[in-house]
Amino acid sequence: MCGIVGYTGNKPALPFLLDGLEKLEYRGYDSAGVAVLGATGPAVVRSVGATKELRERIGHRPLKGTTGLGHTRWATHGIPSERNAHPHSAGPLLIVHNGIVENSRILKEELEAQGETFSSDTDTETIVRLVNRALETGGLSLSDAVRSVLHRLEGSYSFLILHSDPAHPLVAVHRGAPLVIGLCDHGLFVASDVTAFPAEVVSTVFLEPDDLLTADSSGTYEILCLSSGRKREACRIGRSRTEEHGKGDYPHYMVKEICEQPRVLAELLAGKIASGPGGLSVHLPPKVTKVLSGARRLRIVGCGTSYHAGLLGKYRIEGLAGLPVEVEIASEFRYRDPLMDPESDLLVALTQSGETADTLAAVRMAREAGVPTLALVNVPGSTIAREADAVLFLEAGPEFGVAATKTFLSQIALLTLMAIHLAPEERLREKTGHSYQDLLSEFLGLPSLLDKSLSLASSIMGMAGELASAPIVLFLGRGADFPLALEGALKFKEITYIHAEGYPGGELKHGPLALVEKGTPVISLISPDPRLLPKMVSNMQETLARGARLTGISSESAFSEMAPVVSTELSLPDCSAVFFPILSSVPLQLLAYHTACARGQNVDRPRNLAKSVTVE
Ligand code: G6P
Repeated sequence: MCGIVGYTGNKPALPFLLDGLEKLEYRGYDSAGVAVLGATGPAVVRSVGATKELRERIGHRPLKGTTGLGHTRWATHGIPSERNAHPHSAGPLLIVHNGIVENSRILKEELEAQGETFSSDTDTETIVRLVNRALETGGLSLSDAVRSVLHRLEGSYSFLILHSDPAHPLVAVHRGAPLVIGLCDHGLFVASDVTAFPAEVVSTVFLEPDDLLTADSSGTYEILCLSSGRKREACRIGRSRTEEHGKGDYPHYMVKEICEQPRVLAELLAGKIASGPGGLSVHLPPKVTKVLSGARRLRIVGCGTSYHAGLLGKYRIEGLAGLPVEVEIASEFRYRDPLMDPESDLLVALTQSGETADTLAAVRMAREAGVPTLALVNVPGSTIAREADAVLFLEAGPEFGVAATKTFLSQIALLTLMAIHLAPEERLREKTGHSYQDLLSEFLGLPSLLDKSLSLASSIMGMAGELASAPIVLFLGRGADFPLALEGALKFKEITYIHAEGYPGGELKHGPLALVEKGTPVISLISPDPRLLPKMVSNMQETLARGARLTGISSESAFSEMAPVVSTELSLPDCSAVFFPILSSVPLQLLAYHTACARGQNVDRPRNLAKSVTVE
């Protein structure tokens, strides 16, 4: 969380910093700030809100200088306010920081006892005050001063620090939160993510945990590995293309990303399902095949939407492949002392960003226990993508809306594909009624069905006005639709701010039915699976009998076969039950999106949330 960007070179820094911050807003957007080193000293501007508000605050002030840093914040220590916005300063130093200094309260008390007066409530200020005190003792360079205090700072974080005299090099430290260098012919950038870099950045270097960077305006830099005390050879990675950034003709990133899904799925499958003399077959990277083939039990971990994708993976992989799967929220897994068996387990980390602190901790725990790790990640170069033994990329392209949509679709598509790949042919036929060949062929046709699912948008827009005034919305599903119901409720609550619950249909009468009264909206996912469909219809009738306003999401032929129970039908094209969640995720996303729009919410930037959660 929090986005950091810095530049040192021979061009005006401010436009780069502001453009970079805008692109990093997915990491946090409650306040922002920049500092630019000018001829007469540093100019600092901070504001509550995101980069837009910061730009307004800067107005026509020139903020001239070719070295500077910027920050977009997701508050941890101290409320979102101008006083707590970064950069923070002490003496001649300015700092921007991402992550948490866990012992900051103790450090602050100590520093205050020594006469320091804090001007913010942040943990960040303890870092800059400690470094400044080290610098004041004399004889130390900025990077040595930074090194001398690092042992005092507990937690997982990164920061970028500047001396107001541009003759000093910029210093950055990676202690667990991502940092990447961007190189171009007019200078050097440092940021939390490559998306912050302008198009002219042609190569990048990812810092590793425990790296300290010093860089000057000529673009010269040095990376010191703090644990070994040695210089580290930089591994430069060419930047093949600048990722598209912008909403195009769409009003929000979220709806743009929802609409991209047919293309995302088509491209994902094109690289994974190949046609050969023997027909269609699944092709996964060799390292992925290797870790999968050695696994006797999958341990899936993830947070938020990724956790829901993992739950769906359990239904598919256990159901089709007969391979035991455990799924757990990463933050619980890591503190539960889970029993891991290196002989049989494969830890599968699901994470869009590849940076989620708890998921990363679970990967590291597995590695320490000798358990192989596989990551399903969207962001190339992210920490988890680099640390896992094998990686399967989601290939969804950058996702900027805080509410994950296309990356969820890629996750569930890949898990379904993995299940088909791992399933013995006979079991596959028994469980799905289809052959391997038929399923792969149907899978390849799914993007065009997704296209049709998107056309439900107009009916959903019609429902949004009424949903917008509901105090609570229930989402129900059975089987692999249950994780979808959880995801539908999560999507709905995070952007509409209306309370929503996802439940398995069978659990309805064990509690949530008490919430249903006249007019309560219930969204019911009705899988075409013949074992589940009649049970779901019974559950729907139970809610109808209590006055629920029932919306059904099912396939055309399932609707035609069932007695009319729902007040609104969201009818999806027919497909095998195994693919139904892939199609039904679309109306769930649209329901959340259009209801949030009807309520006038900030769809892409919901309050209190951020896209990349690099703190526990
Ligand atoms: C945050 C995001 C969610 C995401 C979750 C896990 O809460 O707002 O959209 O599902 O983090 O993120 P990951 O990058 O690990 O999938």
